[in-house]
Amino acid sequence: MIPTPHIELENKDLIAKTVLMPGDPLRAKFIADTFLTKVEKINNVRNMFGYTGYYGKKKVTVMGSGMGMPSIGIYSYELYSFYDVEKIIRIGSAGAYSPDLKLYDVLLVEKAYSESSYAKTMGVSNRKILSSSKSLNNRLLKAADKLDITIRPVLIHSSDVFYRLKADQFKDIYKTYGAEAVEMESFALFANAKALNKKAACLLTVSDSLVTHEKTTAQERQEAFTKMMEVALNSL
Ligand code: ADE
Repeated sequence: MIPTPHIELENKDLIAKTVLMPGDPLRAKFIADTFLTKVEKINNVRNMFGYTGYYGKKKVTVMGSGMGMPSIGIYSYELYSFYDVEKIIRIGSAGAYSPDLKLYDVLLVEKAYSESSYAKTMGVSNRKILSSSKSLNNRLLKAADKLDITIRPVLIHSSDVFYRLKADQFKDIYKTYGAEAVEMESFALFANAKALNKKAACLLTVSDSLVTHEKTTAQERQEAFTKMMEVALNSL
């Protein structure tokens, strides 16, 4: 069933078996412009840009996921199901719940806790905690080691809510589930991978802290996030 409602590409071969997914489609463009050769644009629908190119000899696609579980749920499902993608590595940002995390720390998501109904509604799992792929995680850890970049394996919270009325509510989730940081997409990505027998992983860079209220600027993020991109690209 291609093209799909959200990806206009008619030729499956123009999408690589591995896709890197930042939330922001302009970050996908930045990765393609900065790191890839022989780049072809593969999607424009809703400005959710995607690009396929080569990192050295490795063919790779980078495409935005948008924000939140419904959005990454749609794009990752279409890539896995209709474009024969095998592996998706999300590269995103996270807010720290743990006082031990600093801005720009790079996290490897081993497990995502969520109160979201995504996995249940989809019919894949009633669990509140879903895991990423161990084999992808091992490759990411090895790549980080080679590049001398520290990445910290963590359980995170995939939340449906960015703005909360109670500023302290995160402390319960930190205590009860051991969630060290929060983002808004991994749980749905991991649910799709589980449902479709594919692989998913997620690297996150800490962009803000719910503990100290520190924040990075958009410009700082663009520069600092290249570490995580290099780890993902070198794991291919
Ligand atoms: N991604 C980055 N920072 C976040 C936060 N504070 N809450 C949810 N998702 C985030």
